[in-house]
Amino acid sequence: MPEVDLLRSLPRVKRNIQKRAEGKDPTVVAIAKEYGEMYWDGPRAYGYGGYRYDGRWRSVARDIIAHYGLRPGSRVLDVGCGKGFLVKDLMLECPGLEAFGLDISLYALMHCEKEVVGRLHLGSAEKLPFPNRSFDCVLSLNTIHNLPRPRAARAMQEIQRLSDGKAFVQVDSYRTPQEKEIFESWVLTAEFHDYPSGWVKLFQEAGYTGDYYWTIID
Ligand SMILES: C[S@@+](CC[C@H](N)C(=O)[O-])C[C@H]1O[C@@H](n2cnc3c(N)ncnc32)[C@H](O)[C@@H]1O
Repeated sequence: MPEVDLLRSLPRVKRNIQKRAEGKDPTVVAIAKEYGEMYWDGPRAYGYGGYRYDGRWRSVARDIIAHYGLRPGSRVLDVGCGKGFLVKDLMLECPGLEAFGLDISLYALMHCEKEVVGRLHLGSAEKLPFPNRSFDCVLSLNTIHNLPRPRAARAMQEIQRLSDGKAFVQVDSYRTPQEKEIFESWVLTAEFHDYPSGWVKLFQEAGYTGDYYWTIID
């Protein structure tokens, strides 16, 4: 279960932590957790503030393909695929790759990239509607922390079941009390978060043997 930073090539996002903290209230949080239009394409206070395809996942897709030795015909699933940007970029970087996604957000799937129409499934990470070992690689980026701990553990079991450990999961975390404080003023949707050691404990409890890394706001 190695730590590997497969999102290292993403541009660093400048976040206005203070503005988010000031704008956050229970109504904003509840609306964000619907993962509807406001979360994706509404004002920044509710989530992404407008999430459009800009090709930023192509270099990540390249690194994932190289790391897992994926080839034309390999089957990849992105759990929490949103609008399918990574699914699209995996197929652009490796023509012939069979990439699929799953997400709980109907809005995201209804606003996906045209190249991935028919490849994205509506569902929840803790109940993946696919047979055992049906993918050569399962990915889940910045999604599993959106489930409460018991459901997050079930989601990790599901990822293990589909991938037999050929998987990469990235989740929200923090290394210090200062980073935890910054994270807590920023976060809208996470139901479970912890220091890396707490996450590793959850992964072990779930029997997850794949790779992982942390999204840390500093
Ligand atoms: C921060 S976004 C990440 C999207 C994409 N993976 C990325 O990194 O850009 C969180 C995603 O988790 C999805 N999500 C939240 N709860 C989920 C669940 N129980 N099962 C599947 N997806 C979920 C949301 O709809 C959203 O697409």
